[in-house]
Amino acid sequence: MGLFERDTDIYRDRDALREDYQPAELVGRDEELTTYTSALQPVINGEQPNNVFLYGKTGVGKTAATRYLLDHLREDAEEYDDIALDIIFLNCDGLSSSYQVATHLVNELRAEHNQISTTGYPLATVYEMLWEDLDSHGGTVLIVLDEIDNIGDDSILYQLPRARANGKLEDTQVGLIGISNDFSFRDDLSPKVKSSLCENEIHFPAYDATDLKAILQQRASVAFHDGVLEDGVIPLCAAYGAKDAGDARQSIDLLMKAGDVARDDETTTTITEGHVDRGRTALERGRIEEGIRGLTEHGHLVLYALVTNDLEGETPIRSRDVRPRYTRFAELAERDPLVPRRMRDHLSELAMLGIISVTERNEGRRGGTYREYELDMPVEQVLSALSETVKLVGVHESVVELAEDAMPDVAAAATHAEGDEPADADRSDASLASFE
Ligand SMILES: Nc1ncnc2c1ncn2[C@@H]1O[C@H](COP(=O)(O)OP(=O)(O)OP(=O)(O)O)[C@@H](O)[C@H]1O
Ligand SMILES: [Mg+2]
Repeated sequence: MGLFERDTDIYRDRDALREDYQPAELVGRDEELTTYTSALQPVINGEQPNNVFLYGKTGVGKTAATRYLLDHLREDAEEYDDIALDIIFLNCDGLSSSYQVATHLVNELRAEHNQISTTGYPLATVYEMLWEDLDSHGGTVLIVLDEIDNIGDDSILYQLPRARANGKLEDTQVGLIGISNDFSFRDDLSPKVKSSLCENEIHFPAYDATDLKAILQQRASVAFHDGVLEDGVIPLCAAYGAKDAGDARQSIDLLMKAGDVARDDETTTTITEGHVDRGRTALERGRIEEGIRGLTEHGHLVLYALVTNDLEGETPIRSRDVRPRYTRFAELAERDPLVPRRMRDHLSELAMLGIISVTERNEGRRGGTYREYELDMPVEQVLSALSETVKLVGVHESVVELAEDAMPDVAAAATHAEGDEPADADRSDASLASFE
């Protein structure tokens, strides 16, 4: 038997659960699709296309609906000889300015050998190239700007819809479709942009558990072999997505994770609710670790300090009581400790990410309130995401026992340091505390 063997018990087509999979039908979006279809109808009539703005929270099917309708539109337009339709789909993730969007559009319109550099031209020159390339294209060009809120300035959102009115385009009809999950982006658009871009606004509401069940059912029938899913699995994955944000992506990701856990579990050929629970723990761990890794160095130091306070049974704890340990850790990491207020900002950020929790307390008769912080995540998970910081600072005595499991690489490297640095950290806590 080879080292690798194909797994076929659980999945028929695992790719059907991936983000880039385009479902053949969209479930439960009839109303939005009807509105969207009529907004695109002028394209088939050979008229100037409408601009459309789609908004709604993350994972509610905005991108999926757009891809679905545009595939149909492209196909149906081919039936009409007098319609030449081209669609440019640009995801603006990583494109932070109108300039970058414009150069990317120019390159989408140009052949491989004629591409322009994405830096170095004046903005006006890039716009001139864009109008020229667009106008020589002819027919109808639909431009989709997905995740449009990444664009920091609205110049292109103003220029594109007005290019024809401003005499920049004669032979080509351009329609703009903007998509965003950032509600403040929409509210903050200048009135002149809003009036053209948001000609047709379509809101995608969050899904409820029933919608999510139907979406999951559809995916599951493609992804898994018949009879693999136990009854409670889909409702559990649907409830998970519905609870948080009505987000289909979260539910689908969980279903895939549960499938993966079941696949690795050699004792079974079905997916159970237990696999979903384990899948959820794994997903959540991934999310926390990502959140922790995204913090700055001082964020890591504050969190490490709080972890040691927690293990010593000192939490909930006030910011000023976290401070001595934080200061000492910063010194051990050879960083200048932040002033108390900035350190508190880091605690607030950790709370915002859901890694720690905050409780407001009253000072008693003297009035006034203060805040207490405690860890809101399993300490092992937090530690395993903090391993780089622990390497830098040293293994504090309170985490020695956990280190072996949570941070095997650190534990192996740092056992020799156990006696000096961590104990040292505690001694200095006392002396530093007297300065507070
Ligand atoms: N109505 C639906 N029917 C079938 N699948 C759906 C439906 N809505 C969403 N999905 C699936 O859920 C996942 C997330 O949807 P999509 O990517 O369209 O979200 P979005 O609204 O664009 O989110 P974001 O704002 O984060 O980009 C995709 O895998 C998509 O195929
Ligand atoms: Mg999207």
